[in-house]
Amino acid sequence: MSAHTSFLAHERFRWFKRSAWLCLITIVAYSAYAPVGGRNGGTWVGYGLGTIGLLLILWLSWLGVKKRGFSGGSHTIRGWTSAHVYLGLSLTIIATLHTGFEFGWNVHTLAYTLMMLVILSGGFGVFAYLRYPAKMSENLIGQSASALKKEMQDLDIRIARLTQRLPDSFAEAARMSLDQTKIGGGFMALLSGSSKKCGSAKAVALASSQAETLTDSAQQTSATEMVASLSRKAEIASRLRRDLSYKAIMDIWLWLHVPLTLGLIASLGAHVFIVFYYW
Ligand code: HEM
Ligand code: HEM
Repeated sequence: MSAHTSFLAHERFRWFKRSAWLCLITIVAYSAYAPVGGRNGGTWVGYGLGTIGLLLILWLSWLGVKKRGFSGGSHTIRGWTSAHVYLGLSLTIIATLHTGFEFGWNVHTLAYTLMMLVILSGGFGVFAYLRYPAKMSENLIGQSASALKKEMQDLDIRIARLTQRLPDSFAEAARMSLDQTKIGGGFMALLSGSSKKCGSAKAVALASSQAETLTDSAQQTSATEMVASLSRKAEIASRLRRDLSYKAIMDIWLWLHVPLTLGLIASLGAHVFIVFYYW
């Protein structure tokens, strides 16, 4: 199994079970302790849960960064991702019980909100990691992106050679394919993976219509080969665009996850500072 498909079930759900135990202990502690003045972050259990929450958040951030050092697919990265996901999710219970359900327009609730957004964006990351690797290998039909790029270059050479045996009008289609077959580009083009403006797709239409006007049988054969080469190139370009867009989707949520984590740590620092010095 790949690192991406099996991290949730790693070691028979070891981290799911550990996190579930942690949540259970938290809920029992919260329920068993009913201080005068109500449950909140300032009681002993409140301080305990807050401390566990803060340590978990710092550890998860460190773990997230540290994970980058491992090569993909290893047993270790799977375990670390599994721990990250389940312990991260357990914060929804630990931190919520820490607050005693007291929220307001203040830096404490800001920290809480940022934490929830980090967790939510992480959830999208898990969704992407589960969904896209399979789609990506399906899209590349078992070949690597670099092999497909190489095939595109070979097709360009073949197309150029074929135009020499064909009337000038075919050179226009070849140039269109060469100049206007863009892969990637701007942010939206990258993300959408759309092939609507593909120069090779347009060249297929142009060369096909030109082929119909030919009468010489040798030229007809060359034209058929050229249309086939252009079609293959258009197909590869479309697959490569989709590949890039999948990669972009697999990364884009990190653009929320990481900055939100930084905001979370900063606001938590303020929260703890304020409760100790001013509250
Ligand atoms: C060492 C860690 C922490 C300590 C010492 C701590 C301390 C406290 C204290 C003393 C209160 C009660 C304030 C009051 O009764 O008015 C409180 C409330 C609160 N804490 Fe924490 N906390 C910690 C971690 C966290 C974490 C990790 C979060 C969430 C991300 C969080 C979010 C909140 C919120 C939302 C409240 C309620 C604020 C309100 O009453 O409006 N705290 N915390
Ligand atoms: C408050 C809790 C959390 C914090 C502070 C946190 C922080 C981080 C950080 C700093 C990274 C490293 C990003 C990078 O590669 O540069 C990361 C990665 C990640 N996080 Fe979180 N995270 C939290 C909760 C979650 C949750 C609940 C989930 C899933 C439901 C999740 C899913 C992920 C995933 C899938 C990665 C990418 C791992 C990889 O690149 O292999 N995180 N997180």
